[in-house]
This record gives sequence, structure tokens and C-alpha cells, in this order.
Amino acid sequence: MIFIVIFVGKTSAINVTNNRYRLNYHIMSPGGWINDPNGLSYFNGQYHVFFQYNPDSSSWGPMHWGHVVSTDLVHWKYLPIALYPDHSYDKDGCFSGSAIVNNGVLSLVYTGNVNNGSFDGGFYQIVNIATSTDGVNFQKFSGNPVIATWPVDGTNNFRDPKVWQNNGTFYVVLGNQSKDRHGRVVLYKSSDLKTWTYVGVLAEYNNDNTGTMWECPNFFSLGGKYALLFSPQGIERDGDRFGNLDVNGYFIGDYQYATNEFTHGPFYEIDLGHDFYAAQMFQAPDGRSILIGWMDMWGAQFPEQPDGWAGALTIPRELTLSADGTRINMSPIAELLTLRGNQYINSNIEVDGVYNTNIPLGSTEILLQIALVNVQARKVGLKFPLNNGELRVYYDKQTQKLVVSRKKVVRQVAINNISVLNLRIFVDRSSIEVFANNGSAVFTSRFYVDYIPNLSLFAEYGVANLSLQAFSLNKIW
Ligand code: FRU
Repeated sequence: MIFIVIFVGKTSAINVTNNRYRLNYHIMSPGGWINDPNGLSYFNGQYHVFFQYNPDSSSWGPMHWGHVVSTDLVHWKYLPIALYPDHSYDKDGCFSGSAIVNNGVLSLVYTGNVNNGSFDGGFYQIVNIATSTDGVNFQKFSGNPVIATWPVDGTNNFRDPKVWQNNGTFYVVLGNQSKDRHGRVVLYKSSDLKTWTYVGVLAEYNNDNTGTMWECPNFFSLGGKYALLFSPQGIERDGDRFGNLDVNGYFIGDYQYATNEFTHGPFYEIDLGHDFYAAQMFQAPDGRSILIGWMDMWGAQFPEQPDGWAGALTIPRELTLSADGTRINMSPIAELLTLRGNQYINSNIEVDGVYNTNIPLGSTEILLQIALVNVQARKVGLKFPLNNGELRVYYDKQTQKLVVSRKKVVRQVAINNISVLNLRIFVDRSSIEVFANNGSAVFTSRFYVDYIPNLSLFAEYGVANLSLQAFSLNKIW
């Protein structure tokens, strides 16, 4: 007798019980917890995004890889879970990793997390691969792990491989830690994705405030320079900088493959908001460098957890190098214009005190232009109520800072010598992404309010003339 067993991938084990904070156009879980974006890629005519996923609970736990696909980077649909933590080499989590397309095969290169109590913290971390020819079903490689241990001068914190190809050779960077507990990124190379040679340290702590462990590295060329983007843990707060528990930022510099020499400038945060971490970039077929981040933060509150889900990913953003070659600018990808529904307003408004618009903020894009030279007010911007407090986005003329304040917890950055401030703001049901002056300053934050609030403008200690446009954004789910 022949038995045919069909395994059907589950997409979600726990149900969402309340929609009050569910997002309308962001990638989020169908139920359960998500964190980092993983495996960003384009394969067989579709964009693929995977994510760290615990389908059985709205808290972090055994990590799977959830999976969504899109033909336009805007409208996403769920596919079955791509990776389960079901082998000896990944039994305590299929942790973060990346993807590469080669010869009609989509390969996932991911961290196997194994707890066996014998290492510091009780875990060790290794690199595995899984492949797919249909972009839906993945087979783990029979020779896993492909990198079975970490460099001898590092610790067992060794994770988040990000793979790319250059001149026919595959490279992978991983987050790691030196034995004296400073963060670093290490580099390996391979001709077939299966056998890897250790090249050396790509970048490391250099008597600077760059933390104890560097997670989720990405290394890529941008506008003629090289960028190393990573998520350091253990950075100390420094004035307005590094306000979150862990941060996400980059070095810009020059790189020589022949000698593995990366000379670079200082560390800058890539997103200044309350909730942004573990971003991953990939190169789209048209050459754009596109980035998606986890729109939350370790140590954050997740008021959606009692509703059966937690966590979301940002809108895709296009990365470009600033004109002076020292910074990364980040703008919403052009495709997001297709989400626009009706236009609520297109007017010049004089604001003296608080101006209540009746524009609802359930799913809204706002374009606010402030000609600072003509502003008498000290603080000028927009605000809306939250459960127990408010969220404010404003320019403070006295301090010359752009501020995002959530229940009075402030994230801010100095923006001097500008005559016009242009804000492009994406609001979803529980998130806000603020892009200032063509993406030279970006703030991402989650917020929670049990009803759909209306937008208000405000000008304190004087009058301001603002130009305001707003559009409703369509739902993708
Ligand atoms: C970053 C991170 C990664 C790890 C994953 C586990 O947020 O800590 O370093 O692979 O999350 O879910």
C-alpha cells in the first residue's frame, strides 16, 4: 500500500482577536509575532520578503521565517511559512539571514540558533542554507551547516548572514563580537554558497561608541562609495543620538576587495524614530537599493500583543548617497504613489495656535511645507491624540531641531540653515514614518490610539503659514 503524505504549510496558528491597531498597507503578521525582515529578493517575477516569525504567540519565541510576495513592492500576499526550526542545526530558531538568486534557484542563507548550554549564554550560532526553485517551497541543504563555527578570535554571538555576489564570487558578512566584547562584522567568501572561506574582519570597534555586538549587517556599494549598515547593541546615549535601546546605522567609506580594507567615516543612525531596527537592503532588478526595517524595537511596548499579533515592517525605502558623499538619504519608493486614494486637501493655511483639520489619520499621506523664513512661531508642525497623550511632529525654530515627540518622549535632530522644511509623512493605523527634506532625516515610530484621530496643525508663540496636502491611502490587506 502506498501512503501519500502532503504537508501543508500553516500561515498562522494564533488568531487576531481585535483589529484596533492593525495596519492597512504595511507588512505585518497574519497573527503571531514578527521582528527582522529577512531574505529580501526578486525571483521569478516577484519580490520576496521573509521575516522573523513566531506563529504560535504574539511574543518572541521559536523563530520561523514567514513569507510574503508582491509584484509591485506595494501589494503583498502571504505564502506558507518558508523555514521551520526543525533540524538539529537550527532547532532553537531559524534566525535572521538573507537571500540570493543564482541559476534559477532562490537560496536562503540563514542563522541556525542552537541552545545546548555549553557556550556563553547557552547557545551557538552557525550558517545554513535552504533553496527553492518555485519560490514557495524550500529544501534545507543536506550538508548544513555551511559555516559550522565562528572565527576563533570571536564569541558565539555570530549571526545574520547577508550574502551578495561580486565578480562571480559569493560574499557574506555576519554580525559578531570580539572576545573582549566589542561589536564587529566579519567576512567570508565562497564559489558555490556551500563551502566558505574566512576572509577576516570587515569593520570593528575603534575606540568609539559603537556597542558590544553588531547585528544584521549589510554591505553594499552606493553612489560610488561603500556602506556598512548594521544594528549595534549596547551603544550609549549621546545627547540627541542613540535614544533607543539598540540602534540602526551605518559607516560610509571606500573598500578594496583585494585586501579587504574598508576605510570609513563615523557611525550615523539611519532612522531617528522611536521604533526602527534590523533593516535589510537589497538591489532591485532596476538597480535601486531598497531597504525595509523592522518597525519596532527591542524593549518597546507592544500594545497589540493582547490582540494576537505584534510587530510590523516599514514601507520600502530607496537609498541614495547624499550629494557630499557622507550620508545615506532614504525616501519612500516611487511605487507607493499608487496607494493614493482621494485627496483630502491642498491649501495654504495660516495657523495661530491650534488648527483642527477634519482629516482622519487611519491611513493617510501628508505633505507639509513650512517656509521657515516667514514663520514667526517658535514651534510649528502637526499633532494628533494618542491613548493618554499625543504625538507631535514639529520644527523648533529656537533650537533649530526637527522633533518627533510621542507622549513627550522626544526624538530630534538638528537641521540648520534651511529656508524651507518639506515633510512627507506616511501614517498608518498604528505607525508614522516622517521623511524630511528628501529623506535626509527620517523618523519611524509606532503609536496607539483606540479611535481614528484627526490631524491638527499648530503654531506656538506666533503665526505660521503652512502648505498642506493630504491623501487617503488604500488598504492592501
Ligand atoms: C535582531 C536579532 C538578530 C537575530 C534575530 C532573532 O533583531 O536579534 O540578530 O538573528 O533578531 O530573532
